[in-house]
Formats: sequence, structure tokens, C-alpha cells
Amino acid sequence: MPETILILGGTREAAELAARLAASGKARIVTSLAGRTREPKPLAGETRVGGFGGAEGLAAYIKDNAVDLVIDATHPFAGTISANAGKAADFCAIPLISLARPAWQPVDGDRWKRVATIADAVTAIPTDATVLLALGRQHIAPFAGRSDVTFVIRMIDEPESDLPFERAVLVLGKPDLDVDAEEAMLAGRGIDMIVCRNSGGRGAYAKIEAARRLGLPVLMIDRPPNLVGLHSYASVEALLGAELLRRLADPS
Ligand SMILES: NC(=O)c1ccc[n+]([C@@H]2O[C@H](COP(=O)([O-])OP(=O)(O)OC[C@H]3O[C@@H](n4cnc5c(N)ncnc54)[C@H](OP(=O)(O)O)[C@@H]3O)[C@@H](O)[C@H]2O)c1
Repeated sequence: MPETILILGGTREAAELAARLAASGKARIVTSLAGRTREPKPLAGETRVGGFGGAEGLAAYIKDNAVDLVIDATHPFAGTISANAGKAADFCAIPLISLARPAWQPVDGDRWKRVATIADAVTAIPTDATVLLALGRQHIAPFAGRSDVTFVIRMIDEPESDLPFERAVLVLGKPDLDVDAEEAMLAGRGIDMIVCRNSGGRGAYAKIEAARRLGLPVLMIDRPPNLVGLHSYASVEALLGAELLRRLADPS
């Protein structure tokens, strides 16, 4: 049974996992955050913040902290840290298990145009559109060249410098979990298209349902090839049922 588990986090699922594993009191649980959010919600167990310094840095952290299991519960688009986790776990000869939420699938009424990259999304936006840019702050810069488009940009934290957009409205806060609230936001701001990544999960799905209700098109950026470890689980529940974790997750 693992004694020290490193969860690579930054997602709702990682927070849930930390809570469930820490509650057992049977292992030391450390969640690692990249440090992108200024005031992340407190997590169960221990938290460390900031990059490790590549795969070598992560391997050094694993050794120094006697980590005996890594759980990659990062965002499905966070490919670098997932690849580094694979290399570091191999190097340290410890198991790595991954949580990868399934991608969203279009349903009746969805008006998705699927694109492979952010660059493809930039060119696919029609002239004079008013677009909800539902992407992390590190991914919005390529859209600034579209001075013919009005962007409504949603971010968790206030940006440190002015956004390089000619026509942009900043909305601070997380995506709402409530479809009615997302529908009201889209309608109230005159949005006629959404650009987002196919993140999967519930946390960011309300806007997709709201777009369906309003008949709005969604430019959906597809996932990069899956960079997951040996074992991949689609939900927290499934992962807690993994052989390595079953006894830890058992509250008795
Ligand atoms: N909740 C969400 O919707 C959401 C959306 C996007 C991203 N995120 C989270 O934000 C983080 C960054 O995403 P990204 O797309 O920039 O990742 P990325 O491109 O895969 O990683 C870039 C670098 O950031 C550092 N890093 C990333 N995740 C880390 C973690 N959990 N702990 C410590 N260092 C980490 C690593 O630096 P070093 O090489 O120096 O170790 C990594 O090489 C991820 O942890 C991801 O889970 C969450």
C-alpha cells in the first residue's frame, strides 16, 4: 500500500481525490499545483505549489519525498506535466496512474465546429462576431490579431497587464455550474459564438448546454493525443477502485 502519494492537480477531480484519500488517514497525500491561480481553494492533505523543473526536477522531488505513487489528475490539455510525470515515474521505478475525464461528445441540437488547434480556431471565427473566449489566459494571445471580432474573455484572476485586444470585455470568475446562469450570461452579453477546448467533465459543461439552448455555434478545440500513464481512469470513483488504492479509499 502506498505511503506517500503525489497528486498532480489543478482540477476539481484532483481536489476530490485528495479529499477522499486524505480522509482515510492511511497515507501522506501531497497535491501539487502549478501556481496559475492566485488563491486556489484549500485542499485536503498537503499542498505544494510551482513547477518542478522538468521531468528531472519531478524525479528529484519524488526521491526527496519518498513518493511511492504518482496520480496524474491534471487537466486533459496539460500535456507537458503529464509527459514529465511518465518519465519521472519510469526513472524512479514507481507506479503512475492517471485520471483522464472523457471528452464531451456532441448531442442533438449542438452546433459544434471541431478544430484541431488554437490557430485553426483563430481563423474559423467569422468577421464581426461576438465571441466568448473560454480558454485559460495562456492561450488567448493568438486571438488578439482578430481586431474585427469582439471577445468576451472569462478569467479566474484579474490579468497582471492589459490584454492586447482591441475589442475585448473581461469577465472575472469561474464558469458557472448552472445552465440558466450561463444562458443568461451568453444572452446578456450578446454572444454569438463560443470558443473552448474539449476539456470534458461537469465543471465547464454548463456553457455548452446553454449554447445548445440558444442555438449558438461552438468552436470546439479537440484534445491533443492522450498522454496518460499505464493505467487510465475516467472518474475519481473508478480510480479509487484501482488495485493500488482500494484499501486506502476504504474508510473502515
Ligand atoms: N481546472 C482547469 O480547468 C484547468 C485548466 C487548465 C489547466 N489546469 C491546471 O493548470 C496546470 C497548468 O496547466 P498547463 O496546461 O500550463 O500545463 P502543462 O503545459 O502541461 O505544464 C507546463 C508546466 O507547468 C508546470 N506544471 C503543470 N502542472 C503542474 C502541477 N500540477 N504541479 C506542478 N507543476 C506543474 C510544469 O513545470 P515544470 O516543468 O517546471 O515542472 C510543466 O512543465 C495543470 O496542473 C492543470 O491541471 C486546470
